[in-house]
Amino acid sequence: MTKGLFITLEGGEGAGKSTQLAYVRQRIESAGIPLQVTREPGGTPLAEQIRELLLDHREETMAADTELLLMFAARAQHLATLIRPALARGEWVLCDRFTDATYAYQGGGRGIDFTRIGVLEDWVQGELRPDLTLLLDLPVEVGMARAGQRGALDRFEREQRDFFERVRAAYLARAAQEPQRFRIIDAAQDIAAVQRQIDAALAPLLEQSGVGA
Ligand code: TMP
Repeated sequence: MTKGLFITLEGGEGAGKSTQLAYVRQRIESAGIPLQVTREPGGTPLAEQIRELLLDHREETMAADTELLLMFAARAQHLATLIRPALARGEWVLCDRFTDATYAYQGGGRGIDFTRIGVLEDWVQGELRPDLTLLLDLPVEVGMARAGQRGALDRFEREQRDFFERVRAAYLARAAQEPQRFRIIDAAQDIAAVQRQIDAALAPLLEQSGVGA
């Protein structure tokens, strides 16, 4: 069965993820490869409703396990109705965040044991893992200063600096564990330099697909 490639983009607050997502999209589409661009939590109407539950503020505090399970509930829906069918058709899927964000935010940030996250990962995803993960990495204070210039903050963006330090450390630990899948992109550099790093990361995949870089 032909199978498309699954690429994920990760990073902390203020890492320039939206700008670089658009860049990755353009690089893949201009190579003539059919592509689905999507995001987590979300990506389908039902999963987007779960996203609202996750990001909105309310008086009742959300328990860490509730947050974790809602992330995977949204992911199960997204995988079943969008990601797996697209990959099976041979399309590529570019996803703005995926399970590495769960390890970083619910694991690193909230302190949930990684092995428990791994159980849910195996349950919901089976064997499916991203083929390539681009991690936009930058010092927390730089990212927070950039993100702080935005308007209303969601439930995660309201967290304090030590939370984001743990998120960053968990992302970097995952990247160190799986160096073949991850490419760490130094997002503190200017946009042109970041895009050169992204080009270098994408080149082998584009070459492999027969379209050249
Ligand atoms: P976004 O701001 O990149 O769209 O992501 C929404 C928020 O959701 C972001 O603060 C990170 C958080 N998140 C998790 O905590 N766990 C996850 O598994 C995912 C996918 C996102």
